Amino acid sequence: MKLVIGSDHGGFKLKEEIKTFLTEEGIAFTDYGTLTPDRCDYPEIAKKVGEAVACGTFDRGILLCGTGIGIGIAANKVSGIRAALCHDTFSAEYCRRHNDANILTMGERVIGPGLAKEIVRIFLKTGFDGGRHEMRVNMIKEMDK
Ligand code: RB5
Repeated sequence: MKLVIGSDHGGFKLKEEIKTFLTEEGIAFTDYGTLTPDRCDYPEIAKKVGEAVACGTFDRGILLCGTGIGIGIAANKVSGIRAALCHDTFSAEYCRRHNDANILTMGERVIGPGLAKEIVRIFLKTGFDGGRHEMRVNMIKEMDK
């Protein structure tokens, strides 16, 4: 799986912690920034990561900001993106099984690194159930056009 990760300054520390976790787990990723804790604008990172997932350069993305909300709202503006805000493991499983979410968002100011890593693990390993859910996801895709 080709994975991309990004954050603004509000999610920078959590991004670095998740990068360490991914490296320990042997999961390859590309970091689209931000690369320093300096203040920056989350829509820019969301657009870069969203477009790279939507065009197929990457299969999945992880986006972090202070709350996970702003960067997710922005990512969902990109056609083809289904970004899911998950701060619990149940949501991480079901955003994949039912919604085929292709971007996970979380907030550094909301969640601790231990739970965030578990959410990442579930988001990456869980497949899409398809079936009746596929028809609904296709209805979302129609809204992109
Ligand atoms: C930045 O201060 C903060 O607004 C941002 O990280 C995010 O939480 C927005 O939704």
